Amino acid sequence: MLDKVKELIGEVTAFNGTTKDEIETFRIKFLSKKGLLNDLFNEFKNVNPAERKDFGQALNTLKNLAQDKVNQLKDTLENASDQKGFYGDLTRPEEPIELGSRHPISLVRNKIIDVFSRIGFTVSEGPEIEDDWHNFTALNLPEYHPARDMQDTFFIETNPDILLRTHTSSVQVRYMENNKPPIRTISPGRVFRNEDISARAHCIFHQVEGLYIDTDVSFADLKQTLLYFTKEMFGKSKIRLRPSYFPFTEPSAEVDIYWGLETETDYKITKGTGWLEIMGCGMVDPNVLKNANIDPEIYSGYAFGMGIERIAMLLYQIPDIRMFYENDVRFLEQFKSVL
Ligand code: PHE
Repeated sequence: MLDKVKELIGEVTAFNGTTKDEIETFRIKFLSKKGLLNDLFNEFKNVNPAERKDFGQALNTLKNLAQDKVNQLKDTLENASDQKGFYGDLTRPEEPIELGSRHPISLVRNKIIDVFSRIGFTVSEGPEIEDDWHNFTALNLPEYHPARDMQDTFFIETNPDILLRTHTSSVQVRYMENNKPPIRTISPGRVFRNEDISARAHCIFHQVEGLYIDTDVSFADLKQTLLYFTKEMFGKSKIRLRPSYFPFTEPSAEVDIYWGLETETDYKITKGTGWLEIMGCGMVDPNVLKNANIDPEIYSGYAFGMGIERIAMLLYQIPDIRMFYENDVRFLEQFKSVL
């Protein structure tokens, strides 16, 4: 009997279970109600009285050892799983990463920049708060020129010389003042006009204006560049130029693209004509070149300007310009898949 207990002491000492199941099986085998220890304690009365003392002591040793073993192995196991917790459960599916989306204005602006940079245009920027010279006077719009009314202006405080730019043509004036031809640059940016807000118009919107100045630049160069742009931007290859008026260009034109009349939406947005106006353009007026210290006898150039919102509305069929500024995530999320 005593030998049996000693053998079991050896087994308990040697036991080194590493999983929860192994430790539990061990506990049941030795310490549960129907376990070996209970059986042995029940044997106690059958043991020869002379051996009872040794037997009892050995049995207590066995019991304590088994108990300690279970506690110790459980502790080790728990510490080990704590360490695993440091990395988390590696078999779990990963946390979903919420994808953001670019604002449609940025998408369209980036695309316009991309299309023009492929034919050598740089990007230029300037201040949103402008002086009269850069926004009007240098652009052949002297004081009291009636065409100033074409763009209702926000003035800063009571100083009529400081205003919020009404177009990014002001950036082109700055660019001409600081750079020698040849010039090829586009100026994307925010502009401000004192207009009533509606589904079609807003007092803050965005433009991209372009400027090209070199020797021997002709109207044909302008037309070809615009054709390239409309093909790349809209996949449309028919444009027409309607005579128009801008103080800073002569001659001036409005650019229409042939959108088509295939769907009901085409009918709606082109008012049944198939044609859509997308920008203004023209040959830079010699007065404007002079104002920027560029000799109009040597150089000529063209300029164009378009509203980003209008183009985004066409491309993504957005019915109301105000949606661009509301920051409603249900609207913005729809541009997730567009790069
Ligand atoms: N600056 C004009 C506007 O804001 C657009 C334009 C730019 C027209 C260049 C012709 C040439 O309406």
